Amino acid sequence: MEYSFTKSQQLKNKPDESRLGFGRIFTDYMFTMEYKKGEGWHNAEIRPYAPFMLDPSASVLHYSQSVFEGLKAYRTADGGVNLFRARDNFKRLNTSCVRLSIPEIDADDALFALRELLRVEERWVPSAPDTTLYIRPTIIATDPFLGVHAAEQYLFFIILSPSGAYYPEGMAPVRIYVEDAFVRAVRGGVGFAKTGGNYAASIRAGDIAQENGFAQVLWLDGVEQRYVEEVGSMNMFFMVDGELWTPALNGSILPGITRDSVIRLANGFQIPVIEKKIDVNELFELGAQGRVREAFGTGTAAVISPVGWLQYRDRALTIADGKTGPIAQKLYDSLTGIQFGRQPDPYHWVETL
Ligand code: COI
Repeated sequence: MEYSFTKSQQLKNKPDESRLGFGRIFTDYMFTMEYKKGEGWHNAEIRPYAPFMLDPSASVLHYSQSVFEGLKAYRTADGGVNLFRARDNFKRLNTSCVRLSIPEIDADDALFALRELLRVEERWVPSAPDTTLYIRPTIIATDPFLGVHAAEQYLFFIILSPSGAYYPEGMAPVRIYVEDAFVRAVRGGVGFAKTGGNYAASIRAGDIAQENGFAQVLWLDGVEQRYVEEVGSMNMFFMVDGELWTPALNGSILPGITRDSVIRLANGFQIPVIEKKIDVNELFELGAQGRVREAFGTGTAAVISPVGWLQYRDRALTIADGKTGPIAQKLYDSLTGIQFGRQPDPYHWVETL
């Protein structure tokens, strides 16, 4: 793929790596590529990070025709840079594209573009403990048209953000509220796609939960409001009677790449993994009997985040005494060990820059 490069007039100062937070700081450059019906994807550029000019009628601003991904670049001990399962992110981006009637991108081109951008921006991959360069590929519909139709013009861009932990708690267990009023996704909807609207629809519930002292909500299925689905930013796992349970992918849950990695790591540790429908009432009953030994969420941004407390209506469940359980810790150590190149990578998930 051919692309043009526009040099920035002035590079930014790098931030204090001990105070990065998540997704607030952006690097000097971004990758952009345009799509036009009849022309396909064209005009690939690496250019200075800057605001876009968008027509106020751009369809993404009205009808949310957009998809995105989240992945990370990791600084290794020898000063190198690792990427983790990046091709899987671009494959999933295309799955989301199909659902949102957005033209797919060539995954090889996208990966090439990302690697070129990262070469330019290598100095931005942080090295402080638990920090990474968070990567956000996104496609938006840019047609200046108010009809509700698939757009004929799109913009694909990749931006980079040096980041620390997603939750201010870091790896410390979080409090999660089981949402029984709002729903996130329904059968036949867009729950499995990584599209902005899923997140917009979750914000109100998240706000209320936060006002009540919870970090996030755990969504139940949109039909019966009975089966555990996901926490918008993470897939969920529960250690029950020596088995690792996670909600089966059903079309309304994001098929997390970290979820898949955790399943494979757990299998490698001989931990039986059960993908199934998890009834929230059963979960709380098992919890009351002390049989839910651990709960944790998985996601690119969240990595592995232990859940210490769950609240469902008037029922409260404390899990692992509100501490990080041994399985969550082992999976976290193993996953991040592979990502940061501290451990061998038997699954061939990592590529170097
Ligand atoms: C990620 O984990 O990368 C996500 O995209 C979740 C998020 C909305 C921060």
